Amino acid sequence: MKIAVIGTGYVGLSTGVCLAEIGHTVTCIDIDQKKIQHLQKGIPPFYEPGIGEMIMNNVNKTKLFFSSSHRDGVAGADIVIIAVGTPQREDGSCNLTFLEQAAIDSAPYLEKESIFVIKSTVPIGTNETIQKLIESRFQKKVQIVSNPEFLRQGSAIFDTMHPDRIVIGSENKDASEKIAEMYRPLNAPILITSIRSAEMIKYASNAFLATKISYINYIANLCEQVGADVEDVAQGMGTDKRISPAFLQAGIGYGGSCFPKDVKALLAISKENGINPGLLQETVAMNEHQQTILVSKALQRFQTLKEKRFALLGLSFKPETDDMREAPSIPMAKQLVELGAEVIAYDPKAVHNAKKILGSTIKYADSIDEAFLHADAIFIVTEWGEITNMDIGNLLKTAKSPIVFDGRNCFDEKKIKACDSIEYYSIGKPVLFINPPKN
Ligand code: UDX
Repeated sequence: MKIAVIGTGYVGLSTGVCLAEIGHTVTCIDIDQKKIQHLQKGIPPFYEPGIGEMIMNNVNKTKLFFSSSHRDGVAGADIVIIAVGTPQREDGSCNLTFLEQAAIDSAPYLEKESIFVIKSTVPIGTNETIQKLIESRFQKKVQIVSNPEFLRQGSAIFDTMHPDRIVIGSENKDASEKIAEMYRPLNAPILITSIRSAEMIKYASNAFLATKISYINYIANLCEQVGADVEDVAQGMGTDKRISPAFLQAGIGYGGSCFPKDVKALLAISKENGINPGLLQETVAMNEHQQTILVSKALQRFQTLKEKRFALLGLSFKPETDDMREAPSIPMAKQLVELGAEVIAYDPKAVHNAKKILGSTIKYADSIDEAFLHADAIFIVTEWGEITNMDIGNLLKTAKSPIVFDGRNCFDEKKIKACDSIEYYSIGKPVLFINPPKN
């Protein structure tokens, strides 16, 4: 099939590349010409494992094209997929400006039979609004399909090639069958629903996962008070098939471009529809509390953080991405600085993006070793492999005090007990003291 994908963010680019990989002829379109020029040379606009190689492979096979002209991609396409950003407004609602513009820019070139697919996460009813917009402005009949995406950054290619399910929301049988046909080579379960149900599935899934994380963080905080271990508790819960072990990793809260935005959008939708949003409000409040929990632990330990030097290990919202959107490292670093501490941060990939947000309020180290030097304590923020595999016992010898606040529970008891001296604070587990410092 001939497919146009509009928007070359995580969702658009991963979708375009994977559709080319399974045999379709795909043109990815973006209004950002610089981005397109880079992509034509095989350079992705973000760090994502495996995507660069897959782009080059498909460009070389003439299966994948990049263009900043809507006419180039949309004219003659069987399917047009919109995957532009739908960022959050101040009030938590969804900003649809980019989506509307993408529809307006593509509509003149839509063929009679082409199907218009919306992958961007949008409030319930938006697909119908876009359909009406195209029909009234351009006097064109268009088949619209809601096809939400569930890929995770850091494993975007794997998730797109091996989805748990593909959701196709449409009021037209031929259109949904054509989209199912497009995905057939992936061999994934396909669920066909109404447009509104498909739109809702995306929000309901993300808000559920975010709530699951806030729930386990709440249990973790309780575990600390009653002397239980949240990892054992999560394992005990997760072996119940109805609960599942996924997304029960206690930590310093969720971040990223999806969960925070989608939970707040669903909250706004609840309010608009007169449904009490209390449950989701607690999910958000719990997450905000959790993002700076390590700072609270440090305050309790040191009383004052003035003139202390702290190493922050990991800045991105999760490993294997350079994305800093809504990363817990941001409120954490800001609070440490406000409390008078000096912060030196290390991240394998996200420093260039972190600098845009945190600027020179903190320092940046080129290596884990450099961050440890003379630190009064170490904060583990993101569980990059390089960080979870570090020789913590040896590295602590170069720090001023061997005190660690681990927000991702990276180390087991055995590894901590092998250290000569450490005071180890984690999430939802007892504090471990091995020959701790005297003060
Ligand atoms: C998420 C959804 O998983 C994906 O389906 C959707 O399309 C986009 O949003 P992503 O934001 O890439 O994907 O990351 P994900 O791996 O889901 O993690 C989100 C956040 O939750 C991260 O900050 C992560 O650290 C945190 N998290 C995740 C936990 O704190 N505990 C967990 O057990 C799992």
